[in-house]
Amino acid sequence: MRLENKIAVISGGTSGIGLAIAKSFVDEGAEVFIFGRRKEALDEAVRIIGGNITPIQADAAKLSDLDRVVDVVRKAKGKVDIVVSNAGFTEQVPLREITEDHYDRSFDLMAKGPLFLTQKMLPLMESGGSIILVSSAMHYMGLANHSAYAGAKAALRSFVRTWAAEFKDSGIRANLLSPGPFPTAIMERQAKTREDLDALHTHYANYVPMLRLGRVEEAASAAVFLASDESSFMTGSDMVVDGGISNI
Ligand SMILES: NC(=O)c1ccc[n+]([C@@H]2O[C@H](COP(=O)([O-])OP(=O)(O)OC[C@H]3O[C@@H](n4cnc5c(N)ncnc54)[C@H](OP(=O)(O)O)[C@@H]3O)[C@@H](O)[C@H]2O)c1
Repeated sequence: MRLENKIAVISGGTSGIGLAIAKSFVDEGAEVFIFGRRKEALDEAVRIIGGNITPIQADAAKLSDLDRVVDVVRKAKGKVDIVVSNAGFTEQVPLREITEDHYDRSFDLMAKGPLFLTQKMLPLMESGGSIILVSSAMHYMGLANHSAYAGAKAALRSFVRTWAAEFKDSGIRANLLSPGPFPTAIMERQAKTREDLDALHTHYANYVPMLRLGRVEEAASAAVFLASDESSFMTGSDMVVDGGISNI
């Protein structure tokens, strides 16, 4: 097992990619804390994963909630080895229609949240620790109507570069995981009907050189690699799991 005796914290670990990461981490021997806003989703994730999983109801965009998450982990374990900032959402909005609220919600959850979660977890981390920020292949691409989303995800690319330089003598590594299109709830919320959703899936699959969407387990196996000592010479880097979409 590649994550035996490791303590991991995952934001948005109740659905899609985050849930698959949580499950893979537990399968690899880690004890995992997941957090998200919806209690019923947390309960369901615990039911699916079974053991070695602690749910915390918390908003990854609220600094006071992040303090509470750190507190729970500190009191229970006194340390953390792996921190995954994964929580996210997408709303397609053309530049002309972007509101301050849309911009703030995007950057609060997908740029500010990951920065402060990392900052607040650092005192619990030791040499060998791994920070993973879940970005998106979209930060390499120019996809219309995604200014705030892709901009926040691009900020994460910069964060791990900067932190690689700052952490240089600590033994703590920080890397990005950039998924391409995966058929999770994030896509479901962009479609009004089942037909719309099928059309969205087909649209994205046709963009991918491998002509399919990703499977969440494929993102999770990259996360296990980044979390484990197998990636011990990687920091400040970006692992792109996108079927090639951002490279053509
Ligand atoms: N699926 C894709 O095609 C794709 C592509 C590229 C990148 N990504 C990135 O991958 C990550 C996971 O996406 P997914 O596809 O797995 O989406 P998902 O199935 O919709 O899951 C999103 C998760 O984030 C949590 N979350 C949302 N807002 C939150 C908040 N304010 N505080 C705490 N938790 C919050 C949700 O739980 P609650 O709602 O209960 O809070 C849920 O657990 C995101 O960062 C996304 O941008 C996804």
